[in-house]
Amino acid sequence: MARFTGRTAIVTGAARGIGEVYAQALAAEGASVVVADLNAEGGTAVADKIVADGGTASFHPVDVSDPESAGALADFTIEKYGKIDHLVNNAAIYGGMKLDLLLTVPWDYYQKFMSVNLDGALVMTRAVWQNMAANGGGSIVNQSSTAAYVYSGFYGLAKVGINGLTQQLATELGGSNIRINAIAPGPTDTEATKTTTPESIVKDMVSRLPLKRMGTPQDLAGALLYLLSDDAKWVTGQIFCVDGGQVI
Ligand code: NAI
Repeated sequence: MARFTGRTAIVTGAARGIGEVYAQALAAEGASVVVADLNAEGGTAVADKIVADGGTASFHPVDVSDPESAGALADFTIEKYGKIDHLVNNAAIYGGMKLDLLLTVPWDYYQKFMSVNLDGALVMTRAVWQNMAANGGGSIVNQSSTAAYVYSGFYGLAKVGINGLTQQLATELGGSNIRINAIAPGPTDTEATKTTTPESIVKDMVSRLPLKRMGTPQDLAGALLYLLSDDAKWVTGQIFCVDGGQVI
């Protein structure tokens, strides 16, 4: 039997890129998936494609930085599918190379950025954990980045925060049988990477990777399924680098 049959998963930032592939991978293993994103058009298309491929999915809008919006997403999921078993905190925005400096980023942009890229994961977790706990437990994966381990300005700072949040929440959630882990991908080929990272920088990064190629969202999906599934039932508070060997 597929590992996620009878389970419900929310994937944030699933209207495109890595989140889209995560949503498809969960649906392919039997989960009912709620595709959650600010982008209604893209998110609806992703959910429709999963359904056309024989899976179960719905789109619901969310702004992960807004507790009310996160609460409405949780309510929708419980009403539609009965419970929430899994949460993938994948949504994020990119700063853009010119904005990355901590010392000079405009303060209002910095606050907006952190409210999505760091606080968003906590906002979403706070919205779902009680339902998970009431149903015997669940599992959560936060999307970190290898940017947490090298200098990368406020983008990297947010991912250091994601790692810390994962470790701290593991203790608070463990008593409710809720596991929480993070995946830290290395450079991964998505629309966002193409538009935010100059080709010369990508080439340089890839040349220094032991495995000498960029990752794809599909390269990450196996780790996501493992960490969310019962295969990892004694694993919590861990940060898994899936990165072609970037962080050794
Ligand atoms: P992407 O830009 O293609 O997808 C991000 C999605 O999040 C978009 O659909 C966007 O609409 C959504 N989103 C943005 N703000 C939101 C909000 N406030 N509420 C709800 N949804 C919102 O990005 P990509 O490349 O697929 O990255 C996904 C995740 O993986 C991010 O957390 C990113 O930091 C992380 N990551 C990406 C790497 C890469 O090389 N692409 C490497 C390491 C980590």
